[in-house]
Amino acid sequence: MAKIYKNVSLRLKKSLKEKIVLAYSGGLDTSVIISWLQEKYDAEVITLTLDLGQKEDFKEIAARSKATGAAKHYEIDVKEEFIKDYILPSIRANGMYEGKYPLATALGRPLIATKLVEVAEKEGATAVSHGCTGKGNDQVRIDVTVRALNPSLRVIAPVREWNMSRDQELVYAKKHNIMLKPSNSIFSIDQNLWGRAIESGPLEDPNTEPPASAFEWVTQPKDAPDTPGYIEIGFVDGVPRSLNGVQKDGLALIRQVNAFAGKHGVGIIDHIEDRLVGIKSREVYEAPAAVSIIEAHRDLEQLVLTRHELAFKAGVEREWSWLVYSGLWMDPLRSALDSFVDATQGRVTGSVRLKLYKGGMRVVGRTSPNSLYKVRQATYQKGSTFDQSSAVGFIELWGLQSRIAAKMASGGKRGRNAKHTARKSS
Ligand code: ARG
Repeated sequence: MAKIYKNVSLRLKKSLKEKIVLAYSGGLDTSVIISWLQEKYDAEVITLTLDLGQKEDFKEIAARSKATGAAKHYEIDVKEEFIKDYILPSIRANGMYEGKYPLATALGRPLIATKLVEVAEKEGATAVSHGCTGKGNDQVRIDVTVRALNPSLRVIAPVREWNMSRDQELVYAKKHNIMLKPSNSIFSIDQNLWGRAIESGPLEDPNTEPPASAFEWVTQPKDAPDTPGYIEIGFVDGVPRSLNGVQKDGLALIRQVNAFAGKHGVGIIDHIEDRLVGIKSREVYEAPAAVSIIEAHRDLEQLVLTRHELAFKAGVEREWSWLVYSGLWMDPLRSALDSFVDATQGRVTGSVRLKLYKGGMRVVGRTSPNSLYKVRQATYQKGSTFDQSSAVGFIELWGLQSRIAAKMASGGKRGRNAKHTARKSS
């Protein structure tokens, strides 16, 4: 009787344990977090690993989660969702933070947060957890999104609390028999389909050139092919849909451009970046597909949008990129900006040809049924339809205010005796 009672109460106790869903990469930090959460909160830890197109051994990650004592492991392939809801809008908005960083990690975080919330709700968990530090942008992106989606969930970020150095973490891992992925990388890496971020180690000196060992996606230019490579990207409504005339789905297209541009040495970015928390940091990225596709997309827009649309859109793009970088994916302003971007993309259909050669990339051709370029206007050959005589009246009015201002600034001298004054003062 006593034994039955004990068993029931044990089972009850187990099921009453707090459940925490942890975003699990399988690396040192998140592996240590599994044990730490169990120890500190006496919690049942459920791990969640997302496939965002990073090349990982997901089976091994699942095994490590189990071996470290997670109660349950989820692995969700979110590549399609990542492309459709995050990467494509970013292409249409030419998403680049500070004009350089194509936002790969920044785009992935709100999706990770969304899935954490989904799994937490399904499992009846009270908290979610992640391995972000207190110094970066990622904590902001995940925390803000989780709290916007489900304010009742607690967010636990152990790395922000525990103050362990890497060596102390290794000691902790050993003590708790945590199975670690063998790694001798001196860099901290985050990667997904849209790019690979490389931090720390020798890169912390902003004056040190990144060693070749930092790169995995992009060939060093000296080892790149000796003949230029060409690629033609076809867009429909601002979305890349074909390569060299062949229709591709988003995943195949991005993978192929990553491989092709990477092979030609294209896609390395070295950026002194302003983090949201105020720190300036040296960030190195490999993003061959992102830089090539956005370069092509921008060029096509230049062909089909008016100068007024382009000028206004540049400001929208900056704001959009800033919102995404700074963790405000959920802010209604982002969808408002998306609406503007959408309204411009209906004409962004056509194709753009890129030439890639030993680390260099440029657009060498573009065509669109919606092109505003009219050769009969632009030509210097005969047959031009542009009436040059109308330029005279245009210039008269275009410079009107500037002329008046210049005259006033010169105390009225300019214009009356211009020739004389100029000679005197020289
Ligand atoms: N600086 C980039 C960003 O804020 C990349 C961050 C990479 N994250 C990482 N955990 N290594 O989006």
